[in-house]
Amino acid sequence: MYRIAILGCGTMGEAILGGLRAVVGAPEVVHVTSRREGRAQFLAKRHGIEASTDNVAACEAADVILLAVKPQAAGKVLAAPGVAEASAGKLLISICAGVTTERLTGWVPQSAVLRAMPNTPSLIREGMTVLSPGEGVTDEHLEVATSIFAAVGRVRVLEEKHLDAVTGLSGSGPAFACVILEALADGGVRMGLPRDVAIELAAQTFQGAARMVLETGRHPAALKDEVTTPAGCTIAGLLTMEDGRIRSILARTIEEAARVAGGLG
Ligand SMILES: NC(=O)c1ccc[n+]([C@@H]2O[C@H](COP(=O)([O-])OP(=O)(O)OC[C@H]3O[C@@H](n4cnc5c(N)ncnc54)[C@H](OP(=O)(O)O)[C@@H]3O)[C@@H](O)[C@H]2O)c1
Repeated sequence: MYRIAILGCGTMGEAILGGLRAVVGAPEVVHVTSRREGRAQFLAKRHGIEASTDNVAACEAADVILLAVKPQAAGKVLAAPGVAEASAGKLLISICAGVTTERLTGWVPQSAVLRAMPNTPSLIREGMTVLSPGEGVTDEHLEVATSIFAAVGRVRVLEEKHLDAVTGLSGSGPAFACVILEALADGGVRMGLPRDVAIELAAQTFQGAARMVLETGRHPAALKDEVTTPAGCTIAGLLTMEDGRIRSILARTIEEAARVAGGLG
């Protein structure tokens, strides 16, 4: 069993931490860090684990280092005195959007570097993570990374050239899904449903439709056609969506998020 350190335990780091801790037998997180002492104390109290502002101590305590600071802080953290030495010979997994393997390897040349792009539903073990191993990452390293993220959701391995698109789609996607979900619930409220009922109906409908796609493997268009009765209410609603150019708006949303992700590093 290997030990994990999370450097920068903010929104995403804590989602992965929370997801891992909910799974019996999952890899153990032994040390997490933050920039502010107060945040470290809060994390220690909330999760009952070692938490500090000392990235070197965290790297020394672990076999696998998960870098989860904002992309702009990646260089500052990894190039700080002692971090490269403390992580030498270990696996470094970076979830920082837009920070390339080449740049990461420049800061920690003696570590095996693997990029990962998870998302926040990892907290409830419904995450989607794409892994992209750099040179020097062995099959065993990839297995270790897969076991971490498989404990908190689904995992795929893709080439690094796809990671900005992944960041725009599944990394940022929970926010886009929540806006669509909220808008559908607004429609229900407009037609007289109580807010809490409308949100529950919209969320469960989203979840149901998504699981149908994943579990049947069928194309979303085929599933959509099945609920579209000639002259019925669903086709009437669908045409209203098309009038609003919803497909191109959503596709361009991913395009823009991916474009910005590419510049974050
Ligand atoms: N949020 C998402 O949905 C999502 C999805 C996929 C990938 N990501 C990636 O995940 C990374 C983190 O994003 P986030 O949204 O979780 O950001 P966040 O909530 O701001 O978390 C960043 C954490 O890094 C800590 N930090 C900053 N400088 C540090 C230092 N020198 N040493 C130790 N810790 C330090 C911060 O500590 P303080 O709180 O004390 O300042 C904070 O806890 C980003 O690179 C992003 O691209 C995020």
